[in-house]
Amino acid sequence: MRPPEELRSLVEERLSALSFATELGELEVALRYSLLAGGKRIRPVLCLATGEALGRNTNELLPAACSLELVHTFSLVHDDLPALDDDDLRRGRPSAHVRFGEGVAVLAGDALLTEAFRLALSYPTAEVGRLLADATLGMIGGQYVDVTTDGALDGNGLAELHRLKTGRLLAASVEAALAVAEKPEGDRAPWRRFAEELGLLFQIVDDILDATGTADELGKTPGKDEAAGKVTYVSLYGIDRARQLADEARARVNERLAALPADTSILAEVVGSIRTPRG
Ligand code: IPE
Ligand code: IPE
Ligand code: MG
Ligand code: MG
Ligand code: MG
Repeated sequence: MRPPEELRSLVEERLSALSFATELGELEVALRYSLLAGGKRIRPVLCLATGEALGRNTNELLPAACSLELVHTFSLVHDDLPALDDDDLRRGRPSAHVRFGEGVAVLAGDALLTEAFRLALSYPTAEVGRLLADATLGMIGGQYVDVTTDGALDGNGLAELHRLKTGRLLAASVEAALAVAEKPEGDRAPWRRFAEELGLLFQIVDDILDATGTADELGKTPGKDEAAGKVTYVSLYGIDRARQLADEARARVNERLAALPADTSILAEVVGSIRTPRG
């Protein structure tokens, strides 16, 4: 079985080798700028790590893994726009709209999203494309709640928001591997439960990082959530309780991981890479 760092290198290699529609012309420069800027690649690595647990060939899964990273990068490019979070640092570089202008950043996001579906359509069945579409729509629904709520969310509402805006793409990362492995629908529920909880954990940690990290550590502007009056685990519960809630989410993730009928050692390493920041 390959460790996560090796899976990550394979993802980097494949992402760099992707060719985009020639019609995009020089817009491709903006796509590559945002895509090849050293993200953590947790979604594609999670997809490949699920493949490892299922004993699948990595090559078979790489197009699906890359399609998830393309959708994710699209979501970041648009998330940073002045109309959404107005963030001018991303993955340690000026955000796409700062570097190329807002119009180009909007179009780069559109193109990344569409290229993701081109990749998902390289499979003989429509299943990867369908689940990617469902998850992307869930993420967009979460982003809609995020930009429109204006501080009016309780704990359940916030958990639901996190499950949508972050959990759905992480769940699709696991589910894409199940789809390519042709796991019967009836066997998928425990995998989904694991992945959705992982998404919640990931976004609670992201909220804590926003409140406690530095620009160098994060590669994005810290303190953005508070400045924008966002409801987060930190604003709603305070930093100490947010850390406890992250620990509780992690315990649920590990319980669900232990319930999976497979060798989940590589997946466990991926979970372990999501660290709760301590003071
Ligand atoms: C940031 O995602 C946005 C969230 C959904 C929390 P990541 O933390 O995965 O960002 P990259 O891909 O490593 O840049
Ligand atoms: C990210 O939420 C959710 C997305 C779908 C991009 P955030 O707005 O918290 O992500 P960061 O902190 O800017 O990466
Ligand atoms: Mg946002
Ligand atoms: Mg943001
Ligand atoms: Mg954040």
